[in-house]
Amino acid sequence: MPRMQSDTWWRDAVVYEVYLRSFADSDGDGTGDLGGLRRRLPHLADLGVDALWITPWYPSPMADGGYDVADYCDIDPRFGTLADADALLAEAHDLGLRVIIDPVANHTSERHPWFRAALAAGPGSVERSRYFFRDGRAGGVEPPNDWISAFGGPAWSRVREADGSPGQWYLHLFAPEQPDLDWDHPGVREDFDAVLRFWFDRGIDGIRVDAAPAMAKVTGLPDAGHGPGALFESRTWVGNPHWDVEEVHDILRRWRRIGDSYEGGRLFVTEAVVNGPERLSRYVRPDEMHTSFNFDYLTSPWDARALRAVIDASLAALEPVGAPATWVLSSHDETRHATRFGRAHTGGAFGGAALPASPTDLVLGIRRARAAALLTLALPGSAYLYQGEELGLPEVEDLPDEALQDPTWERSGRTVRGRDGCRVPLPWDGDRPPFGFTDGEAAWLPQPPEWATRTVAVQLADPASTLSLYRTALQLRRSLPDMHGTSLTWCATPDDVLAFDRGPEFRCVVNFSAGRLDLAGQGRLLVASESCAGGLPPDAAAWLLRGAVDVG
Ligand code: GLC
Repeated sequence: MPRMQSDTWWRDAVVYEVYLRSFADSDGDGTGDLGGLRRRLPHLADLGVDALWITPWYPSPMADGGYDVADYCDIDPRFGTLADADALLAEAHDLGLRVIIDPVANHTSERHPWFRAALAAGPGSVERSRYFFRDGRAGGVEPPNDWISAFGGPAWSRVREADGSPGQWYLHLFAPEQPDLDWDHPGVREDFDAVLRFWFDRGIDGIRVDAAPAMAKVTGLPDAGHGPGALFESRTWVGNPHWDVEEVHDILRRWRRIGDSYEGGRLFVTEAVVNGPERLSRYVRPDEMHTSFNFDYLTSPWDARALRAVIDASLAALEPVGAPATWVLSSHDETRHATRFGRAHTGGAFGGAALPASPTDLVLGIRRARAAALLTLALPGSAYLYQGEELGLPEVEDLPDEALQDPTWERSGRTVRGRDGCRVPLPWDGDRPPFGFTDGEAAWLPQPPEWATRTVAVQLADPASTLSLYRTALQLRRSLPDMHGTSLTWCATPDDVLAFDRGPEFRCVVNFSAGRLDLAGQGRLLVASESCAGGLPPDAAAWLLRGAVDVG
């Protein structure tokens, strides 16, 4: 049983992202749901993770895969009911798994009653003041400012007023179906306090704070200086008026106080794609969020020096605020790393932006992904796994155009395919699609027939599979005392090798060089991503127990 009792479990927790639509379906409609997740919870307990982050499960028109919420205190009928959520929570807790949910507070769905009321009430109304409704420039025909949407194009859409005339504009930093809330409105703050309490009272263990840097805007909504065709590259922005604005932190502190009012506290993890580790560290100051996703690590190329630099910078920036680092390789927003690592350009872009096109060597990519798993799980702090990475799943790069559902596809004028390729439903068993994902005919996105060799069932039976590697590594991580400390000491190595010790006994070695690396004298081999006969091969990693019987 994992550490359900501890108040600081999140400091070194391994959290598994469940992209609910694609995890497991129980009612045959081809979309994953809570019944499917409940049935497959033993897979997650046996894998050895500590917690689940479940992507949005609320009623939603699904303009952005559920990140467009129409009711924050209910479950979408596609996914189940509140009773299913309660049952899931109880069953997860019985298995020692904590549950983190994802309420999406920067924006609502355009179908949310608050937005419907705002549209109906007209310019100047109290209802509109919950959102950012403004008159356009140039006599109303131009957007109120130059802000851009993360999915491409302007961040403003114009409404038709009740009499049919073209009217005000409203702000949406994401899709037009996702109007931004104005967090300066006291009612917005109070209503979200109630949303947090609604879920915390039911026993939810934590909250992922979606798009946290978006939640405050500079008063007066001044131009950002985005030129024509500007991209949403928030990792490079300084002093931007709609991203990473100081007042975001007031909201986060308010939320933290609510979480802390519950016995044992509740966890907050922010999604904050900001300009470097120092800006990120501001989200995890002692009275703010507990942890934040590390996008610098996620987007780092597969390169020893680059990774070491990111690891050092992350740890150094977080040390003064006392927050643990997080390490993440993939998510429902990013090209799967087994594919990225098999390309010439191995770094990520985040958020479905177009990566340089290049052929993929999947054998190499999966080999590196296995090594990256051992590196990631050896680092001090908390790790986030994205469903399917434990199976070594690649990005599905050849989805037919008509299957694509990510708003990025249409918003970019069908030039950027978006994030569907990392969201293809999981293969559980059987030798053809839908691979036990659904009892119905097909999954909501088509699964590649070649995933027959990558199902959970096939990999469970193979001690050399990626699933077996993850299970072994997670079990070791939980049982080795050194891995629960915070220290990391680099060993002297050539530039194309990373090696570090955690505590007196544990060592991790990753070989980025083109030759085999002799491990003789370094300790007893605990686990390796490839066979180590004759030394650690290129693009492989090993965990060793120092001071124990030598591998040489
Ligand atoms: C976050 C989510 C992403 C979503 C966006 C808008 O980045 O991870 O999937 O599209 O927020 O809510």
